[in-house]
Amino acid sequence: EHPSAYQHLSPVIAHRGASGLAPENTAAAIELAAQQGAHWAEVDVTISADGIAVIFHDNDVNRCTDGRGLVIQQTLAQLKTLDAGSWFSPFYANQRILTLTDLLALANQLELNLNLEIKPTIGREVETVWAMAKALQQVPFEHTLLFSSFNMLALSAAQQHLPDITRALNVEAIPRDWQQRLEDTGSTGLHFAADFFDPVAVADIHAAGTPMAVYTVNDHETAQKLWKAGVKAVFTDYPERLLLLPLPTDH
Ligand code: G3P
Ligand code: MG
Repeated sequence: EHPSAYQHLSPVIAHRGASGLAPENTAAAIELAAQQGAHWAEVDVTISADGIAVIFHDNDVNRCTDGRGLVIQQTLAQLKTLDAGSWFSPFYANQRILTLTDLLALANQLELNLNLEIKPTIGREVETVWAMAKALQQVPFEHTLLFSSFNMLALSAAQQHLPDITRALNVEAIPRDWQQRLEDTGSTGLHFAADFFDPVAVADIHAAGTPMAVYTVNDHETAQKLWKAGVKAVFTDYPERLLLLPLPTDH
């Protein structure tokens, strides 16, 4: 048995990097998270038209770049021409969409652990996991890696092709059959939305010894409430805010 990534998980995970203060999923946001003292960053992974794993949240480039259209319909060369920072602030005009290999090299350097959220285009789940496996071969990761996804097919593909990397199932609300879903995907952890916090379900999951992480938490009160309930980590757009708090002791 391989040790679980959850043994190394910190209570604060930078959500898409320090995405409250820098353009999400870019090098600037990752660097800022590390600068602010975060030990973990979460980013979203999908593939380009030519099957390269890239760090991007949306299906299309409209919101977070100066381009238009679907990520899956543009080659890496095309995606690399886009400005991924100006939409956030002119200060970040030089930011580019990262490939997963770019990100792995950067996180190796920054000594940052990574939660790679697999966000496949529906129908391209297996290709997305293959692309991730290829990137991990090209740039071996030196720190702790945790996979997560809302997509059961992506998790199953990860279980098959990269079995040693700890997996988590992402959901919005906690499903009644959470245990079955974790089993079906060989997942260790459950990540859910803070808006759907359910103290009874959380107590059950905690009692079962299943690690939980919760997104997106940008205020002290919510973070403290969740940590007290046994949640191992919260995803935040403002790591600095939550890192100023007394952090939870082991639970
Ligand atoms: O992985 C946690 C969180 O990032 C899931 O939601 O939409 O921010 O990727 P989203
Ligand atoms: Mg995400």
